[in-house]
Amino acid sequence: MEPPKIAPSILAADFAYLAAEVASVNEHADMLHVDIMDGHFVPNLSVGLEAIAALRRHSQLPFDCHLMTTNPTAYLEEMAAAGASIVTMHIEAVPDPTGAAAAARSLGLGFGLVINPGTPFVAMSPFVELCDLVVVMSVEPGHGGQAFREPVLKELEAARNFIDSEGLGADIEIDGGITPETASLARAAGADVFVAGSFVFGEKDRGAAIAKLRNAIT
Ligand code: DX5
Ligand code: ZN
Repeated sequence: MEPPKIAPSILAADFAYLAAEVASVNEHADMLHVDIMDGHFVPNLSVGLEAIAALRRHSQLPFDCHLMTTNPTAYLEEMAAAGASIVTMHIEAVPDPTGAAAAARSLGLGFGLVINPGTPFVAMSPFVELCDLVVVMSVEPGHGGQAFREPVLKELEAARNFIDSEGLGADIEIDGGITPETASLARAAGADVFVAGSFVFGEKDRGAAIAKLRNAIT
């Protein structure tokens, strides 16, 4: 398994001070998680291309862009130009992501696939060889601040077993309801990357919050 990585989700940041919020995690995080919602795939809206481009000027972290959109392949070129590093899309939105993965790679983007809590890992297993990142949602996508769903741990274990037994290189990310306690459960089940919105941005000292997560998983 890879050394664990922490990816704060700016969905939980104060949007009036986004540059400062990102600056508060720059020195401590491994990636920045940017949630993009279209009000269609999920019943909420969030940020888009302009926010990615603006934040790119305030951070050198890789931007892990989580596309909760019905047609995530439509904006890959714009995402790359704005400064995205890796894009992840839902298998529920793109049942055959072969073309999307190739398109992302041709633009120099990393590529990943996401499953919702109700979707079994086998729905994405045929495509894991195309992925840098395999994401297991531990809350219903659309909102931060929800409680971690423990039943997803078995999908996380399935992903870990599959990637190890096939000798594939994808990292496994867990997204939703991450605290030191749930991060530790997810680490034991095989996660490499931990998205944390409310836990990181809910604490005044972001470095201390991230350190608490790291202590729980190493
Ligand atoms: C949910 C998003 C998550 C969310 C995580 O739709 O995909 O990335 O920001 O937030 P917390 O850590 O608050 O559950
Ligand atoms: Zn997310």
